Amino acid sequence: MKENYMVCNCKQVSYNDIESALHTLDRFEDVLSAFQAIQKITHCSTGCGGCHDKVIEIISDLMHG
Ligand code: FES
Repeated sequence: MKENYMVCNCKQVSYNDIESALHTLDRFEDVLSAFQAIQKITHCSTGCGGCHDKVIEIISDLMHG
């Protein structure tokens, strides 16, 4: 099991937060629309934007892994 860690410091969104937000989505066609949905749920990447690439990477790992 992966260790939880903070992904978005501005909004205090952790890896686990992103993972559980992803699981609440019924379906997602692509990483970008999943990103937007998760952004709405967790507010990650709505501050400085510095975590954007990390969030995208985690979502695509979770979706394809
Ligand atoms: S670290 Fe996520 S918006 Fe700044």
